[in-house]
Amino acid sequence: MAGNSAKIEAGGGTHDYAVLDGSVGPQVIDIRKLYADTGMFTYDPGFTSTASCDSGLTYIDGDQGILLHRGYPIDQLAEQSSFMEVAYLLLNGELPDKATLDSFVTTISRHTMVHEQLTTFYRGFRRDAHPMAIMCGVVGALSAFYHDSTDINDPLQRKIASHRLIAKMPTLAAMAYKYSVGQPFVYPRNDLSYTANFLRMTFSVPAEEYIPDPVIVDAMDKIFILHADHEQNASTSTVRLAGSSGANPFACIAAGIACLWGPAHGGANEAALNMLREIGTVDKIPEYIARAKNKDDPFRLMGFGHRVYKNYDPRATVMQKTAKDVLEKLGVKDPIFDVAKELEQIALNDPYFIEKKLYPNVDFYSGVILSAIGFPTDMFTVLFALARTVGWVAQWNEMISDPAQKIGRPRQLYTGPTQRDYVPVDKR
Ligand code: CMC
Repeated sequence: MAGNSAKIEAGGGTHDYAVLDGSVGPQVIDIRKLYADTGMFTYDPGFTSTASCDSGLTYIDGDQGILLHRGYPIDQLAEQSSFMEVAYLLLNGELPDKATLDSFVTTISRHTMVHEQLTTFYRGFRRDAHPMAIMCGVVGALSAFYHDSTDINDPLQRKIASHRLIAKMPTLAAMAYKYSVGQPFVYPRNDLSYTANFLRMTFSVPAEEYIPDPVIVDAMDKIFILHADHEQNASTSTVRLAGSSGANPFACIAAGIACLWGPAHGGANEAALNMLREIGTVDKIPEYIARAKNKDDPFRLMGFGHRVYKNYDPRATVMQKTAKDVLEKLGVKDPIFDVAKELEQIALNDPYFIEKKLYPNVDFYSGVILSAIGFPTDMFTVLFALARTVGWVAQWNEMISDPAQKIGRPRQLYTGPTQRDYVPVDKR
């Protein structure tokens, strides 16, 4: 690499490619003309060395364990901000003043109800359906109800669709839970905060008023902040790729939900708590550590490791503290928390985990808190989706507003048969 360009010797020639600087973080080699120059593609399954876009939203330094949203460190946002403020920040780039924040919160709360006809969709699902299956369906179905905000070329419609998605996700998520337990749906109440309203729609019943506990509201709000955005992760890249074809925002977010569901991504919080429950007691930990290290055993320590973080996930630090606070304040003595802390200590001192730089990620402790609050494990990924919707819509808006945006269309290294002639069935 020389100066601000890089030379690539390929296809019988040497070619210069511009090296681009971000505001912070690794430089990137702009290889957009590589194929035209050399007739070659690059090969990078899993995008381990490929920047798919430029973005001003979120920055991660995986070696240092740093996560910034619009420049603000995640721990400061989790401790001092609110989910609504972080949502505004991600969507608009700057922290709002008081009047702007109030107006944003009012706008979001005016969109919390869903079309009454949408409630009939739920009744089409089995009661034991996974709530993420329901969410894939009902969020995609929003595009059938809100035609007036699906023109992606109109900035006002994009803004309204973004507000609708952020506002309606708690309502849809709470309805998925209510449906699974056979209780009536609870309508939103706009005098409550975003998070308190979600807890009330989830846990209240018509027979009894539900007063949200401020300790739980605060913990839940922090969890939402910690999940709000995370740069070009798999589900966000899915939303961007779906959006690059011009698909409407509701369809794109449904695609993101589908991707998030996988156990290597958002499904890990559910898998991590199930794993901790399976381990059950501290004396069983060595057995599971040995399994995680065994190449012939597919078992992995769920909630451990990350594609980008090769250091402690800064979200896990906040999550561990929040878990401790919530359990203490609620007076819950959950042995699973002790198992989690001990497992973390043993893994962090084990050469296998040290060498591979495997640290707890955001999902390791979140399940302990969510379980103490009263959520069943299959709701955990739904809560992740609810919070990540903010990041998804902010990234989607950023992409659509980018004049350099093109439909996403990766290339491949073809390894199938070369051209051959069709053989009729009686001759095979
Ligand atoms: N337990 C045991 N070994 C592991 C683990 C783990 N949790 N994670 C990675 N490894 C090993 C892996 O076997 C591999 O070893 P080797 O080099 O000998 O083949 C090495 O570490 C690198 O792993 P990788 O799978 O090549 O790394 P990746 O960047 O493709 O995967 C990951 C990242 C998050 C998918 C992976 O660490 C994992 O499966 N973790 C468990 C699931 C989990 O907690 N996911 C939540 C991620 S954070 C929330 C989110 O953003 O969605």
